[in-house]
Amino acid sequence: MTTRRDFLLNGVASASALALPVTARAVTPQFDELVARQAAVQLAPPSYPKTEIWGYDGVMPGPELRIVQGARVQRRFLNEFRQVSSVHWHGIRIDNAMDGVAGLTQAGVEPGEGFDYDFVAPDAGTYWYHAHNRSVEQVARGLYGALIVEEAEAPEVDREEVLILDDWLLDPETAQIDPDFTSAGARSHAGRMGNFVATNGRYDLSIDVLQNQRLRLRLINAANARIFVVDVAGMEGWTVALDGMPLEQPQRLEEPLILGPGQRADLIVDVTAESGETAHLVRVDNEEGVSQVAFPVTGRATTVRREAPPALPRNAKMDVPGLQNAAPVRLNIEGGAMGRMQTAILDGERKSFRELVAANEYWAFNGTVGMPETPLADLARGQTVKLEINNDTSFPHAMHLHGMHFREIGEDGTLGPLRDTITMFRGETRTVAFVADNPGDWLFHCHMLSHAASGMMTWMRVT
Ligand code: C2O
Ligand code: CU
Repeated sequence: MTTRRDFLLNGVASASALALPVTARAVTPQFDELVARQAAVQLAPPSYPKTEIWGYDGVMPGPELRIVQGARVQRRFLNEFRQVSSVHWHGIRIDNAMDGVAGLTQAGVEPGEGFDYDFVAPDAGTYWYHAHNRSVEQVARGLYGALIVEEAEAPEVDREEVLILDDWLLDPETAQIDPDFTSAGARSHAGRMGNFVATNGRYDLSIDVLQNQRLRLRLINAANARIFVVDVAGMEGWTVALDGMPLEQPQRLEEPLILGPGQRADLIVDVTAESGETAHLVRVDNEEGVSQVAFPVTGRATTVRREAPPALPRNAKMDVPGLQNAAPVRLNIEGGAMGRMQTAILDGERKSFRELVAANEYWAFNGTVGMPETPLADLARGQTVKLEINNDTSFPHAMHLHGMHFREIGEDGTLGPLRDTITMFRGETRTVAFVADNPGDWLFHCHMLSHAASGMMTWMRVT
């Protein structure tokens, strides 16, 4: 016989039994998915067939991830490829375990498997995410997207556009991606250069605007190797952030902006072109300007702003104290075609340049080709580091440090803006400084992905 008391007790018992899965779910959260899969997109003009790409969630660029500063990104990455993959969150001062470097911070994600990424984005700014295994192929096939971290108090603009610049190496007939990702020419020279330039996967991206509108343009260079040199026409404005980090003062756009692979820039521009005209984001190729993005002016807004926008709110950790006692670290970049490297260590053995060429390996950091067993620097947490980089090669390189931003020390000793990637031209020696405040093993490599694949990779340890 069931008494009222039993019934109540059972009721309570079953209620808590029901509650259990809820608790369990809170412990193992079911994140939104980010699925790497194949898809076909109309990349080339419509007279061409669609291009087979690899895209997050089957789109290219991948879905824009947008959060407010200090919020968490939680994504379950699912790998639907035949290749091992991982996701790197470029420029985020992240927990090392979430940095997404296959083989260094995590095991690569096998085909059919997944990985839960869960991290806080401490700084506002323009970031991006991309594959970090066989990047030279996976990024070139389209595995990237924007990661936007909004300021709690954003500057006042009329509209905002995220513009991901890329170039593609396509077969001129079939518009399919050139599958030779180990080309000796690309590896030993300037990297894999595309023959087809696009923005957000569109060769003819066009955005209607009004005269006098104020736009925030978030530029991201996702190309394997191309350095985009950009300018504006029919608009005027300022650079307000580089590599996600606010400039102390907005800087007038007077000269073309150099955006190496991996680098970002936030611009705030006012449309000055008149109704019926077209403003442009211009790509400067050998003195000649080519439209990268068209902004047809379809009318006129009455609010006219021409005064400089205020600086974006500062992110934390701008300062680099203790420069006098900084730990010195040197990186000599050697090798490549038309270089002077005679020998280098490959897999523990000294090889002549001729032997390296035969092995399709061309670049060395401090005399060693590829990821060394020991870190370039073993740093105590909190230590200030002065890193001198010497580009002793005939090509430019875009050196990217994971997990921490640095500031360049100018000739006069002043510190430049916070950056995570530095574009270095041939023969240049530049010195950057940073506080090693993020514990873990951090990759430091050339973001020209054919270069990274043929020797230009090392790492630093912070403990
Ligand atoms: Cu944007 Cu190591 O990468
Ligand atoms: Cu390089």
